[in-house]
Amino acid sequence: MSTIVETKDGVMTIRFDRQEKKNAMTAAMYAAAADAVDRAADDETVRALLFLGREDFSAGNDIADFLAAGAMQAAIEDLPVVRFLRRLVACEKPVIAGVNGVAVGIGTTLLLHCDGVVAGASARFALPFVPLGLVPEAGSSMLLPLTIGRNRASWLLLSGERFGADEARAMGLLSEIVPDGELEERARAMAAQLAALPPNAMRTTKRLIRSVDAAALAAAMEAEFAAFGEAMRSEEARTAFMRFLSKR
Ligand code: COA
Repeated sequence: MSTIVETKDGVMTIRFDRQEKKNAMTAAMYAAAADAVDRAADDETVRALLFLGREDFSAGNDIADFLAAGAMQAAIEDLPVVRFLRRLVACEKPVIAGVNGVAVGIGTTLLLHCDGVVAGASARFALPFVPLGLVPEAGSSMLLPLTIGRNRASWLLLSGERFGADEARAMGLLSEIVPDGELEERARAMAAQLAALPPNAMRTTKRLIRSVDAAALAAAMEAEFAAFGEAMRSEEARTAFMRFLSKR
């Protein structure tokens, strides 16, 4: 499965656990994460969610999975990643992420849906959609410009250039940076802090923050899903996927 879910003291931890592939995300990992977010919504004892990785947060979608999904002509709607992202957007409980190592593609874009993000000092980020012949996902074509400004967002989304934790913090993508060895402890403390607060006020406040642009976000995500599905099946993408996989 490679996604470990554990609930303790009001915090549901969803841990990506495929370190041998730098936590590259498979369909099974998204499906397990989507199920967990679903369960959290219905479980009153869950007051906050926490995403963690291992030495790496996530190297993004598994590129072999991209290739297979493209070859199968999979309908984008059927992909577990789509279900996961929809559940995450709809999640009314606070979501924290603790990021160390690499956070690539969805490893970075899922942070845009979190309510607190702490990174280890050596964390590194990248959005290499265009270099892979793909387009942004998870609402990042809208949320990244909103979060860090259009010019910087354009450059990062178009170039796929890597950036470090200091830059991510300065741009407003992270709440804070801690020494690598303190990452998990701090992320757990942030989740526990929110889990201890009144849940109804928490839920309403999150809804108020998110409702301002919820319709626009839903529209952006639908447009991205359509464009992503097309791009994933393109010759440009196939060539880029094969190039990555043939280097292994
Ligand atoms: N999909 C599939 N496998 C991946 C992967 C991905 N997204 N990212 C890493 N892996 C695998 C590698 O193939 C390698 O497997 P192997 O040991 O069986 O050969 C293993 O994870 C370790 O990765 P490696 O590339 O050797 O580590 P690195 O430290 O040199 O580089 C990255 C780390 C993240 C920079 C590099 O792996 C990378 O660029 N990955 C692809 C990121 C990406 O484009 N994701 C999709 C975004 S939309």
